Amino acid sequence: MRIVMIGSGYVGLVSGACFADFGHHVTCVDKSEAKINALEAGEVPIYEPGLEAIIQQNRSAGRLDFSKNLAPSVGEADVVFIAVGTPSRRGDGHADLSYVYAAAREIAAAVRGFTVVVTKSTVPVGTGDEIERIFREEFPQKDIEVVSNPEFLREGAAITDFKRPDRIVIGTENARAIEVMREVYRPLYLNEAPLYFCERRTSELIKYAANAFLAMKITFINEIADLSEKIGADVQKVAKGIGMDKRIGDKFLHAGPGYGGSCFPKDTLALVKTAQDFDSPVRLIETTVAINDNRKRAMGRKVIAACDGDVRGKKIAVLGLTFKPNTDDMRDAPSISIIQALLDGGATVHAYDPEGMEAAKDMLGPVTYGNDPYEIAADADAIVIVTEWDEFRALDLKRLKTVMKNPIIVDLRNIYPVSEVTKHGFGYFAIGKKPEKR
Ligand code: UDX
Repeated sequence: MRIVMIGSGYVGLVSGACFADFGHHVTCVDKSEAKINALEAGEVPIYEPGLEAIIQQNRSAGRLDFSKNLAPSVGEADVVFIAVGTPSRRGDGHADLSYVYAAAREIAAAVRGFTVVVTKSTVPVGTGDEIERIFREEFPQKDIEVVSNPEFLREGAAITDFKRPDRIVIGTENARAIEVMREVYRPLYLNEAPLYFCERRTSELIKYAANAFLAMKITFINEIADLSEKIGADVQKVAKGIGMDKRIGDKFLHAGPGYGGSCFPKDTLALVKTAQDFDSPVRLIETTVAINDNRKRAMGRKVIAACDGDVRGKKIAVLGLTFKPNTDDMRDAPSISIIQALLDGGATVHAYDPEGMEAAKDMLGPVTYGNDPYEIAADADAIVIVTEWDEFRALDLKRLKTVMKNPIIVDLRNIYPVSEVTKHGFGYFAIGKKPEKR
């Protein structure tokens, strides 16, 4: 198959590289000249474990190339994926589809024979219909089928998620398009990954409903965490206890500082807006969005409370800035609100993150960055663990205690057993557990 991926951002690049790895010929297109030049020079603009190696292998095998110009490759393609950005529109929270429609028009102009055009970007229900209308009215002579095929990749685990998906959702009822999509994913269904075919609108909604459900699950356990703290229960044990019930499941029940990233905040908001437009509000999700927003700010207050209610003139060491580990992505990261609250409270903030500091520098206020946890912990009044990077899981607590001014750990990811931290004489403030003062 000849595949063209329009948009070489996170989704486009990972999907394009993995399709090439299946043996297809893939061209990844992007309007950004700088991005394409970098990719052609062998630089990968995002941090994703395993991606660079796959790109390299498939480029040298001649199955993967990059281009600023979509027309030549689209003319040869069997399938064109649209993987451009759909940011939240300023002001109203709706997904901004201008890039999607612009790409669709350019594709249609360049298409020659029968071509399947697939939306991979997360797009509101009805976007496929609108693209089809554009094709029908503005390019009536072109033979194009529009298919929805949402991605469910998690940053940091995207390659595994792509190659071992729980399911592949494909929204089309057209027989020719079904054949083409079967061929595209043949290596996966040979591995027994289920291809789930449904109507295009259903497929578009599946993506939003899946993300909203997961965001709701996280928010649920976060509220149970707050309650656990107050009544003296342990939220990790509650999560385990409920998760053993197969109807509930044990995934996405880690209480923390609130969800962030490029998907959950944007997609929950877009679903809320779409549902309101159709006069069928999704109230659970509206509430989820509001609770999660408040939570990020509340985490700043939690740190201040752990410092006896006052951080003025105190040094706080923040471990982890990205919205989750194994990524350099700072979008909607809880660290942003937490650090803002600490700075507003008069604290001096020192921070360290294995991959996120470059991006953080543009987003955070006056923060001093260090090279490792021990450096930023020197003379600190408290350490706050915001992101659960592996390298924070086995800190030398003895050494930390000697370098800190005040041995307090606020662990917003529950990565330490309480007994281990208190044994070393730390005050320990986790999520959804009784606070352990010194
Ligand atoms: C998510 C979806 O998982 C993926 O299917 C979709 O395609 C894109 O959005 P991603 O944003 O990369 O992926 O990260 P994910 O691992 O889902 O985590 C999202 C946020 O939820 C992070 O801030 C994470 O820290 C938080 N989270 C996740 C929790 O707080 N608790 C959990 O139990 C799980």
